Amino acid sequence: MPTVYLNGKFIPAADACVSPLDRGFIFADGVYEVIPVYHGLLFRLEDHLQRLDQSLAGIRLTQPLAHAQWKEMLSNLVDKNGGGDLSVYMQITRGVAPRDHAFPIDIPPTIFAMVTPLKPLSPEIVQQGVTAVALEDIRWKYCNIKSIALLPNILLRQQAIENGATEAILIRDGKVTEGAASNVFIVTDNRLTTPPKGPGILPGITRDLVLELANTHGISAHEEEISLTNLQNADEIWLTSSTREIIPVTSLDGKSVKSGQPGPLWIRVSQIYQQYKQDIIDHLETA
Ligand code: PDD
Repeated sequence: MPTVYLNGKFIPAADACVSPLDRGFIFADGVYEVIPVYHGLLFRLEDHLQRLDQSLAGIRLTQPLAHAQWKEMLSNLVDKNGGGDLSVYMQITRGVAPRDHAFPIDIPPTIFAMVTPLKPLSPEIVQQGVTAVALEDIRWKYCNIKSIALLPNILLRQQAIENGATEAILIRDGKVTEGAASNVFIVTDNRLTTPPKGPGILPGITRDLVLELANTHGISAHEEEISLTNLQNADEIWLTSSTREIIPVTSLDGKSVKSGQPGPLWIRVSQIYQQYKQDIIDHLETA
């Protein structure tokens, strides 16, 4: 039975209860984070906590814990669940109060965290990539906030799946924003591009790391707008996220992306990414 964290206590998942009057349940009034854990190590924790600060500020909810307290609690949660490779999910809502759109006064937030196993990419994805469809981005104007209100993302992902695809790549005003639960990169003539940060996309932690690694390895990487036409004509398309790292898209809207195989730059950057992770784990084990 997995152990979860709820409002200051570590308890078996089956014993965790939240009131139906919680504003997360009633209004989706909350924010969340997803953090990968490798060999028990919370990967890029500080970046995730900084983004959490931004999300909380974006919905005007006071950060309930200091970063050091988050670190201690999440490390305990990982240990209590046996460590290894995990994905941590944590969410903070505006707490339990009678249903009223206006903010309640002096209500403690609800803080919840759980872990799920993190599986490596399947050999099928590594060899063949995944398929995607381009869909209209129907979300709100604050997509930089990691809000638990994910209904548009859910509908878009489901539409992709019902079209036989793995992910929806979202288009707003003729330009790529991001995936339903991922950031998007394209490669054209060996040039790596991802849309710039702003209210239209989540500032992905994996996205930032890919840009950082590209820069340190002399790969031409740019934060620029991507038109739908550029997406359709790209040599490679990648999706990035904390749970799936970097995955190659080999078919878009039923048409092959270039050769229909994961591209050479994806192979190179994935290796760099895996090496970067391994170096951190090795450093931790020898420390
Ligand atoms: N989602 N954009 C959206 C809309 C996302 O939901 C996610 C991740 C990303 C990638 O961000 P990061 O690299 O920091 O994981 C971009 C998580 C994994 C989820 O909702 O489960």
